[in-house]
Amino acid sequence: MYYIGTDLGTSAVKLLMMDECGRVENVVSREYPLYFPKPGWSEQQPEDWWRAVKDGLKQLISGYDKTQIAGLSFGGQMHGLVILDKDDRVIRPAILWNDGRTQKETDYLNNKIGRDKLSQYTANIAFTGFTAPKLLWLKNNEPENFARIEKIMLPKDYIAYMLTGSFCTDVSDASGTLLFDVEHKRWSQEMLEICGINQSQLARVYESYETVGTIKPEVAHELGLPEGVRVAAGAGDNAAAAVGTGTVGNGSCNISLGTSGTVFISRAGFGVDANNALHSFAHADGSYHLMGCMLSAASCNKWWMEQILNTSEFAKEQEAITDDMLGNNTVYFLPYLMGERSPHNDANARGAFIGMTLDTSRAQMYQAVLEGVAFAIRDSFEVAKSLGLEINSSKLCGGGAKSPLWRKIFANVLNIRLEVLESEEGPGYGGAILAAVACGRFASVQEAADRLVKVADAVEPDDLLAARYQERYDKFKKLYPAVKELFPQIQ
Ligand code: XUL
Repeated sequence: MYYIGTDLGTSAVKLLMMDECGRVENVVSREYPLYFPKPGWSEQQPEDWWRAVKDGLKQLISGYDKTQIAGLSFGGQMHGLVILDKDDRVIRPAILWNDGRTQKETDYLNNKIGRDKLSQYTANIAFTGFTAPKLLWLKNNEPENFARIEKIMLPKDYIAYMLTGSFCTDVSDASGTLLFDVEHKRWSQEMLEICGINQSQLARVYESYETVGTIKPEVAHELGLPEGVRVAAGAGDNAAAAVGTGTVGNGSCNISLGTSGTVFISRAGFGVDANNALHSFAHADGSYHLMGCMLSAASCNKWWMEQILNTSEFAKEQEAITDDMLGNNTVYFLPYLMGERSPHNDANARGAFIGMTLDTSRAQMYQAVLEGVAFAIRDSFEVAKSLGLEINSSKLCGGGAKSPLWRKIFANVLNIRLEVLESEEGPGYGGAILAAVACGRFASVQEAADRLVKVADAVEPDDLLAARYQERYDKFKKLYPAVKELFPQIQ
């Protein structure tokens, strides 16, 4: 039997087909546009996702015995606001996880409703990218669109709806809406009232590995899929990536270097970071997790290479950063190109270079970009450590994990062992695993992960280099507080 994982990302959808033994048979991807209509805004067209998924699925399964395709599930970019009207038409472009337009509404939630209440209702506080502040923004700025809302969805749930007709979501993705009582895994009545919506506008919530329906006959026919293919709820991309990297059970860690950068710690039981710097969300294996999220990680690399240097020769550009340069760079980069979420919660933060001299080289600038992302991940990592969580090793996944240089920088900046997996497709592989569990191939997500996920390579930190990076991190830490007041003034 085959199981399909659909990773609905920010730059592209990646579709993956896995066999019963966990072997990846085929991977295809389809890009779609990302729109920045104003500085700090970030939108996509749900119809573009749907077209890309259909197109990608057709290619993914071509040449395979389609009668063997048993199930499909998802990892999806989190927090995006997708709204449909009474005729199931998309009302406006989706407002994405890295959109910073809701500072006013976020401040209202955190300061007027109050962090304590939000944390009591949802286990989290408001961040600009979360779904609830976007609903308030819509109510304040596009009341005619707000009045037309029949269904509120998260990105991957729109695809599940188009495939099956089931209006559904899963516990991990629902956690990022700030409308969900994470501990009890149900919508929060208090939050619905605060946002002026009612429960009928929200989807039914499933565990990530539960079946939400089967592919509609007309869609199955169009795609060349057999009828009866099961669709499982799936998970937010970070929880799906955690499944795909075996980050399940108590106290495992995964770092994802995609468009965003996340530190994900799985937990057997529910728990909240008292300062709410880390998100407290439900996990795709039936338990919970803590997570820190930086908004621009691999996207800083892409920005520097493609937009600034105008090249796509990533490996060649990284070759110029030689071993002796590591730990010795006096140039620093603040990676806040879309503002920052964890731990600063500051939509006004912006990128910055500091420390250049006339002899600063192109390679040092690039090195600063790669290091800046690692230092910013360390900020979330430090919060996790301050909660008493002991993390000596972590999985590393996402596009950025493919670079041996960046892996080495990360292992030494964090001073931990980093493991990369045989399947690099974290969320897609996790999605396929969730489909396999829904189809009864495995009794639980834990069992599936234990049997399927295999470590391919590991990077150990080097004492001397880790010590040098410690010194540099101590300096990096001082930069954001020193310039943070300037950011709103220069925009
Ligand atoms: C997590 C988050 C991002 C997106 C990226 O809270 O906002 O990781 O899910 O797709």
